[in-house]
Amino acid sequence: MIVCSCNVLSDGDVRKACGSKAPPRTAGQVYGCLGCSAQCGRCARTIKKIMDEALGACAAGCAICPHTGNLLPARAPDRS
Ligand code: FES
Repeated sequence: MIVCSCNVLSDGDVRKACGSKAPPRTAGQVYGCLGCSAQCGRCARTIKKIMDEALGACAAGCAICPHTGNLLPARAPDRS
C-alpha cells in the first residue's frame, strides 16, 4: 500500500528501511534511507506508526537493546 504519494513509498518500503543495520529513528530518516525527502509531510504520522510496529521496543529508543548489541548493565549488589 502506498503511504507516501509524493515519493511513492509503500509500507513495505518503510518496513524494509526499518530492517537495516542502523534503523531510522525518525520519519525524516526513513525518507533519507529511501533516497528521498519529505515533500508535503502528510505521511509522516503514518510512517512513524509503521516504524513503531516494525521496530517494536527499539522504537522507544531504549539504551539497552539486544538488537543493537548493547549489553545489559551489571546488576547492583544484593544488599538484603
Ligand atoms: S505524502 Fe509523503 S511527503 Fe507528501
